[in-house]
Amino acid sequence: MQTIFNKTMLSMGAEVKNHLCPHFEYSRADLFNIIYVKKLDTFTAVMSTCGKDPESVGCELCKPTIGSILASLFNKHIMDKSLNGLQDTNDRFLGNIQRNGTFSVIPRVSGGEITPEKLIIIGTVAKKYGLYCKITGGQRIDMFGAKKGDLLDIWTELVEGGMESGHAYAKSLRTVKSCVGTTWCRFGIGDSVGMAVRLEERYKSIRGPHKFKGGVSGCVRECAEAQNKDFGLIATEKGFNIFVAGNGGAKPKHSELLAKDVAPDDVIPILDRYLAFYIRTGDKLQRTARWLENLPGGIKYLREVILEDKLGIAADLEQQMLDLVGSFFCEWTETIRNPEKRAAFQQFANTEERSETVEQVMDRNQPRPTYWPAESAKEDFRGTKWSSLAWQPMIEATHFSDAATGSSANVKRGDTQLAIFKLKGKYYATQQMCPHKRAFALSDGLLGDSADGKLWVSCPMHKRNYELKGPEAGKCGNDDSVNIAVFQVEEREDGWVYVKLPPVEELDGVLGTEKWKVTTKDSEDPFAKLDEKLKKDSMKGYKGRKVQSESHLTKEEGGLGEMGKAAAILRGEEKNREGGMDW
Ligand code: SF4
Ligand code: FES
Repeated sequence: MQTIFNKTMLSMGAEVKNHLCPHFEYSRADLFNIIYVKKLDTFTAVMSTCGKDPESVGCELCKPTIGSILASLFNKHIMDKSLNGLQDTNDRFLGNIQRNGTFSVIPRVSGGEITPEKLIIIGTVAKKYGLYCKITGGQRIDMFGAKKGDLLDIWTELVEGGMESGHAYAKSLRTVKSCVGTTWCRFGIGDSVGMAVRLEERYKSIRGPHKFKGGVSGCVRECAEAQNKDFGLIATEKGFNIFVAGNGGAKPKHSELLAKDVAPDDVIPILDRYLAFYIRTGDKLQRTARWLENLPGGIKYLREVILEDKLGIAADLEQQMLDLVGSFFCEWTETIRNPEKRAAFQQFANTEERSETVEQVMDRNQPRPTYWPAESAKEDFRGTKWSSLAWQPMIEATHFSDAATGSSANVKRGDTQLAIFKLKGKYYATQQMCPHKRAFALSDGLLGDSADGKLWVSCPMHKRNYELKGPEAGKCGNDDSVNIAVFQVEEREDGWVYVKLPPVEELDGVLGTEKWKVTTKDSEDPFAKLDEKLKKDSMKGYKGRKVQSESHLTKEEGGLGEMGKAAAILRGEEKNREGGMDW
């Protein structure tokens, strides 16, 4: 989007600045080089060395970019206190936040190859924690609907079972998709699975300007769709053709040939250089396709840099990649082991209670949150006239850190959820619900400030920015139709953080979770008419879905259906194997 906008502006004769955001007069690539050369390893160091205002807390644009540069260079745990407030919610809780505030769980399945044992573990975990399962485009299994408070238990079971983080939440390598190649396919001329697994294991966890994906096909039939990936290999009689800078997404792009007939043992240095060069020079949130389009000289220049070492930096690029590869660790394993990091995984910081904010429905035998409400909550929360306000102790001050990027908590009082933030020694309190889609998520938002003294929290769902201080506190800076209630808050000598609140019932009457919980009544079924038509027409598709959980065999023929068969397996009663399968 930014690229299209910039090109249009340039064609109109306007000057286009590639600055990261109002806090930095540098592009991402410039900032990367400064951070690299000066070895700046914290946000504070970067802001005080390169920022327009050394004291600024940054914003939702520069914080994740700097977080990603620091990760690309130093690969520290993303939940470390000094880094955590830099990241979007996905990175902060090592899972992609979903519509209802739950998270997705995606263990790594390198090359899409998975053992029956791991499938059993995944199935058992999904069943135990009520998770919705879906196969992703990157050939792995996504488990949706994990509550923040269940994430540690879920991941403990997965890690115990030999699995690790799939980094699906990060701007990093996602997957290297593969076809079966010579492992099974009669047309295969190269071991695509073997190569894909090696590449995914090498580049896993490495963060860049944006996510990047790989693919390997065992022959020109291209079943792995390697030519729409950031890097893709297609087996030839002599090795692999290497393609780069392709993607699907909003503006699909076929990749371009970087090198032909590369022997398997020469693939790694080429990809190391290519990826390290992209990580260094890519713009913020720029995929490799747009990056190559904007690289002066395009693929010809890239070939000169990567294959002919025109810039004399090949060894440096390879060393950078080697350092990153050597620094790998599983972020979930480290989190499970670390009491401080574990403490973040609780829905409310002041109670172990839990509450659901979106009604759950069953669809095709699996749970999912009901659809978003069609309308935002347009109430004037900010202008609410409370009958009286009194100071209430809400949470111990020790919960908050003094990280330069700020810290936050979601607290519960009665049926109302509040967000409390601490930044530079000062506290701010607001309602937890973002009125846009009634998502209870504001405490997970990034904090940002501007030169004119504004301070805001950016909703992690769709980035509505709510002001936190001054006469405009509670206003939304980028959507006039919504606003939020704010409350006075302070830390006292007894070590508690106090918030000035109206009586419980009055607050619940305005902001209670039950009142704003999204239910099936808030939206229409988008398939109502279609299903009616399909039913009437008795079309095959509709019938097909209906019987999917039932067996095509009759009961007399042994048909048990999905639930019956799974239960029989778990009881050790599967057919033809007395006493069950020997594991
Ligand atoms: S790309 Fe070729 S080797 Fe791979 S599955 Fe398809 S036909 Fe087989
Ligand atoms: S729910 Fe959409 S911006 Fe907050």
